[in-house]
Amino acid sequence: MCGIIGIAGTTETSERLIDGLKRLEYRGYDSAGIAVLQEGELQRRRAQGKIRNLESVVRDEPCDGPLGIAHTRWATHGKPSTSNAHPHAFGGVAIVHNGIIENFRELREELAQKGHNFESETDSEVIAHVIAYYLGKGLAMKEAFREAVNRLRGAYAVAAISKDNPDQLYGARRGSPLVIGRTETESFLGSDAIALAEWTRRVIYLEEDDWCMVTPTEVEIYTMDGKRVERPEQVSNATPGFADKGEYRHFMEKEIYEQPDAVGRTLSNYIDPVERRFHSANLDGWKSTSRLLGSACGTAFYAAATSKYWFERYARLPVEVDIASEFRYRSPVLLDSDRAFFVSQSGETADTLAALRYCKASNVPTVAVVNVPESSIDRDADTTLFTYAGTEIGVASTKAFTAQLTALACVAAGAAQARDELSANEIGDLIDGLLEAPRMLNEALEKVSDVEEIARSLSKASDVLYLGRGQFYPLAMEGALKLKEISYIHAEGYAAGELKHGPIALIEEGTPVVVIAPYDELFEKTISNVQEVAARGAEVILITDRKGAKLAVDDASAIIEIPECHPVIQPIVAAVPIQQLAYYTAVLKGTDVDQPRNLAKSVTVE
Ligand code: M6R
Repeated sequence: MCGIIGIAGTTETSERLIDGLKRLEYRGYDSAGIAVLQEGELQRRRAQGKIRNLESVVRDEPCDGPLGIAHTRWATHGKPSTSNAHPHAFGGVAIVHNGIIENFRELREELAQKGHNFESETDSEVIAHVIAYYLGKGLAMKEAFREAVNRLRGAYAVAAISKDNPDQLYGARRGSPLVIGRTETESFLGSDAIALAEWTRRVIYLEEDDWCMVTPTEVEIYTMDGKRVERPEQVSNATPGFADKGEYRHFMEKEIYEQPDAVGRTLSNYIDPVERRFHSANLDGWKSTSRLLGSACGTAFYAAATSKYWFERYARLPVEVDIASEFRYRSPVLLDSDRAFFVSQSGETADTLAALRYCKASNVPTVAVVNVPESSIDRDADTTLFTYAGTEIGVASTKAFTAQLTALACVAAGAAQARDELSANEIGDLIDGLLEAPRMLNEALEKVSDVEEIARSLSKASDVLYLGRGQFYPLAMEGALKLKEISYIHAEGYAAGELKHGPIALIEEGTPVVVIAPYDELFEKTISNVQEVAARGAEVILITDRKGAKLAVDDASAIIEIPECHPVIQPIVAAVPIQQLAYYTAVLKGTDVDQPRNLAKSVTVE
């Protein structure tokens, strides 16, 4: 979602602002812009589309100065266009904003009546006007900024500069993250530490409802009621050199191939492979838990939904999983012995964060399963169980998903041990199974040529169904999501047994149906469903293992074989062909694989 950069520097900033935006590109955006203070005047350059368009605007009409702000916009209010791109400016003030200003109409009307002219369709522009309004009333920039942010309702991270304060950069945070970076001679603002990593690792995270004024050498942080506060400076682990596709065509392809490593790293943080036992943190708190509530969005939700099968099967723990945007609005009944978990790659997803805060407010212990350390969800949760996927750039989540599945499988098995639901032998067997995951993923990745071939026929389809039973049902939905988001082909995931209750009406001669069914105790039932769709003309693409392939050889039009492995890692391994099918289909269709249309990597608005 929108990305923010600010520099209060000692040397020119334009090029650095644009470089910073490139490091935020992975979040998804539809336009970009910068504003710098050049010889006492604000200069703005904006462009719709990619950052290279902005670069060419700046090349044609250069601007530079030591104070500047920059933005990648993901449209919420107003279409993607140059005039809606940030920074917005009015009355000698320029701002960039991530989030939604809920009361922007009210503020806009108020200021329009006072003679302000608005030039965009955005909610954000009003912020520049409100600051300028208070400056016009004679307030200094510091007071004007504070008054202005106090007038805003909604979720936001904002950065602002004004032409009369050549060394002051302002920032505020409510609901969306904002990080201050420092060196001896310069200060920065960024949506995340990655954006600043090229310049500094010394970071200060603004807390909810903080605002700040930074100069090249000073940092002042305040609460909304004007109280000066200190926030700790930390050394961030973010690395600047991540944005490298190496030998791969797309980040998504690279990230698919990084899965054995990502899963291996995650496993080693949960399991001691020599002692064949779980690290103790994984075993805490499970005895007193009588119900587990999971919330997440998109792919992270499908990881949470898969873990329901594991927690129930192995730990005999009742689990409810919700899409985070639904959870808190259905007035869930929360019990004293509940424990709630929240799965998120970015750790910044607004709906997931809101669900977490809802549970915290009811004193339900909260556990985050998060990939980005120091993110809002990590910092707000009582406990964080990290995934170790590394930075994921492709908007379509791949290695973060399998790392989430891995962490959750370890946690479910650890819960089973802590609750004495499995014998030592059974736990040992699960651990052995989990530890095989990186090798099995490598083997699954080797089947790429089979997948590429099948993607050729999939790329011609207009509708695709994905079916799975039991622990493969969430993976069927994940497969459909992956295909939709990067190839723009309509796809739906269904529980295989549910098909005959309606969706089977969609099957026509040649409709592709991807069935995920490695051999297990439900295999025969799923194959009955395969026969039902095949009898109606469907082209069945079966993802199964050797045993399943032998049994279903006559039922499917094509088979993608994954290695035979322990049931607990079957969904992790079967995720590979699911991702590859979507990837190669999208490549054939020529879509923007890493930054598909309309999507953002981290969704920081509700
Ligand atoms: O950062 P999060 O894991 O909280 O993000 C959740 C979803 O927005 C995300 O998984 C989304 O569905 C991906 N584009 C899926 O590929």
